Amino acid sequence: MDIENEIDAGTQRALLDKVHRHTGIHMADRKWTLLQGRLRRRLQALELCRYRDYLAVLDAHPEEVGAFINLVTTNETSFFRTPRIWEHFQQHLLPEWFRLHRGATLQLWSAAASTGEEAYSMAMVCEEFREHHPAFKYQILATDIASHVLATGKAGHYQGKSIEGLKRAKPDLFDRYFQPSGDGYLASPSLRAHVLFREHHLHKRLDGASRFDITMLRNVLIYFDEEGQRHVLENAHRAMAPGSVLIIGESESLTRLNVGFDFEQPLVYRRQERAHA
Ligand SMILES: C[S@@+](CC[C@H](N)C(=O)[O-])C[C@H]1O[C@@H](n2cnc3c(N)ncnc32)[C@H](O)[C@@H]1O
Repeated sequence: MDIENEIDAGTQRALLDKVHRHTGIHMADRKWTLLQGRLRRRLQALELCRYRDYLAVLDAHPEEVGAFINLVTTNETSFFRTPRIWEHFQQHLLPEWFRLHRGATLQLWSAAASTGEEAYSMAMVCEEFREHHPAFKYQILATDIASHVLATGKAGHYQGKSIEGLKRAKPDLFDRYFQPSGDGYLASPSLRAHVLFREHHLHKRLDGASRFDITMLRNVLIYFDEEGQRHVLENAHRAMAPGSVLIIGESESLTRLNVGFDFEQPLVYRRQERAHA
């Protein structure tokens, strides 16, 4: 079945707007080719030839929205992405938190977790820390809007480029925390027991009290416009404990946004003590 190549401007704009409505991701008109490429496979699967008909399917069948979100999000990630952040996490943030909060449980949030490599990197560093500090306790919440990536995270099963990257960068941790399983490697029960994966849209408020001590909100703000970034950061601020730490991605910045975080060092911010108005 041939899928149309010439799409009218109204349909293009309506689909780009749907991306924004369902994910908060801002796609300018020039991103149409990218979106078209991603939607093409879905049209094929649904045996549709016109993008306009896919719009109608999205409107008539709310259950299609999940598949749409899975297609339009970019889920690239890796274990120990941006190594200097992980050095800081291991050498400064964990010891500092442990010194100040004996007896408590460190609450970590991987806030755009994708397939879970970031959350399991947190867990490996925490397990190593626990070896030397048996009283240390931690919990990790890993959230994302896309259900297909969360399924990989929940399974804790990795193959190909993802696990090969860990093997190369951290052979000791790879040996200690991953076992061969089928055509890939499975995260150890000790890692999996500490990570909870959940669907969450960053534009919505996370339920529960302000609790996270360390939040990684990395490589996702870039997809939102300024208003969206502010909204997401305000929600993150609400979910985080006073004095807690926020870590963002390499091409992101909070300068100009004025959302209740103080700059601590590149990519690392501290939530202001006083409630943000
Ligand atoms: C490029 S990945 C970043 C993964 C990881 N944080 C890292 O830095 O490697 C961006 C992730 O953000 C998720 N995402 C996009 N919009 C979102 C939203 N509104 N709420 C929650 N997650 C979202 C995507 O599904 C994707 O998995």
